[in-house]
Amino acid sequence: MQPVVKRPDLNLVRFHQMITVAPEMTALFEKIRRAGRSDATVLIRGESGTGKELVADALHRESPRSTRPFQAVNCATFTSEMLASELFGHVRGAFTGAIRDRKGLLALADKGTLFLDEVAELPIDLQARLLRVLQLKRFTPVGGTVEQEVDVRLLSATNAALRQLVTEGRFREDLMYRLRVVVLYLPRLVERTGDVQALTWFFIDAFNERGGRRVHGLSADAWAAMRAYSWPGNIRELRNNLEQAFVLGEGPVIELDELAPELRGEGVELVHVPEPDAPSTEPSVTLADLERKELVEAWRATGGNRGKMAEALAISRPTLYRRLKKHGLT
Ligand SMILES: Nc1ncnc2c1ncn2[C@@H]1O[C@H](COP(=O)(O)OP(=O)(O)OP(=O)(O)O)[C@@H](O)[C@H]1O
Ligand SMILES: [Mg+2]
Repeated sequence: MQPVVKRPDLNLVRFHQMITVAPEMTALFEKIRRAGRSDATVLIRGESGTGKELVADALHRESPRSTRPFQAVNCATFTSEMLASELFGHVRGAFTGAIRDRKGLLALADKGTLFLDEVAELPIDLQARLLRVLQLKRFTPVGGTVEQEVDVRLLSATNAALRQLVTEGRFREDLMYRLRVVVLYLPRLVERTGDVQALTWFFIDAFNERGGRRVHGLSADAWAAMRAYSWPGNIRELRNNLEQAFVLGEGPVIELDELAPELRGEGVELVHVPEPDAPSTEPSVTLADLERKELVEAWRATGGNRGKMAEALAISRPTLYRRLKKHGLT
């Protein structure tokens, strides 16, 4: 039996929907408080999964506009035409299907906050129109002729450096300067002292609340792997790993093999398996790779139940145990 790592005493700092124990984050919370009070346009920078949406939400809640609407749009999920209509609204007959006037997010966010997520993806033609809104506090709905006044505070977020996009000609320099009046940088998870541990227990608590599996510890090697991992997907990836463990594993202790293969320094998900009837063109995939992949798949399908796994793989239990041990999956 491996030693079990139990819940430590944690002095969690909560700020809106975020938690931390890291000084790097409490310093950021202070900046959010100050920036929140102002009406300044804020650009939130941070890698994928670092909590940019939560920061935007916190900025709005900290602001004098908190009782007014908060509208958010992801610039990456629309075509240029759809995004224009989404932002500026349209008048009846502006295009096929525009059967009545429709308010856009700008109008809906009047006196409140508009959050442009993934702003680097904003199409170049809309960049010009948005710049005009920021300069004149006026806009015209798609297909309309009458300008409307609007009072919004603009927040935006990106995981790409806008300056880089400017040099590539994909982002307007003048708009970049308008958006980045205040820039808040979200540290990566591994740069937040103590937060892998704090967030691990925060999510374990949350998943315990849901009912089903109840967890009170992590095996020593599971915890060692979590601490050593680089977490490129940041908080989202940490959360997903624990959620997967709650779904696939059982018992009070999270084991290493319940976590994603990346954490074990293995690339199981990336192993290329040729189509059954296609000629093998991939000599780098070994029999051991396939055997391991089969085991992992059976594990997923059965929730780790040994009897069902043996059945699914049509092998005896002793063979199953031997193979699990061979691949470090016990
Ligand atoms: N400090 C935190 N405390 C608790 N949960 C957090 C924290 N930061 C992020 N999360 C959670 O992590 C997940 C990712 O956060 P969010 O969606 O805000 O990231 P993001 O930076 O917008 O990511 P992306 O660039 O991929 O859009 C969400 O489930 C969020 O609730
Ligand atoms: Mg996001």
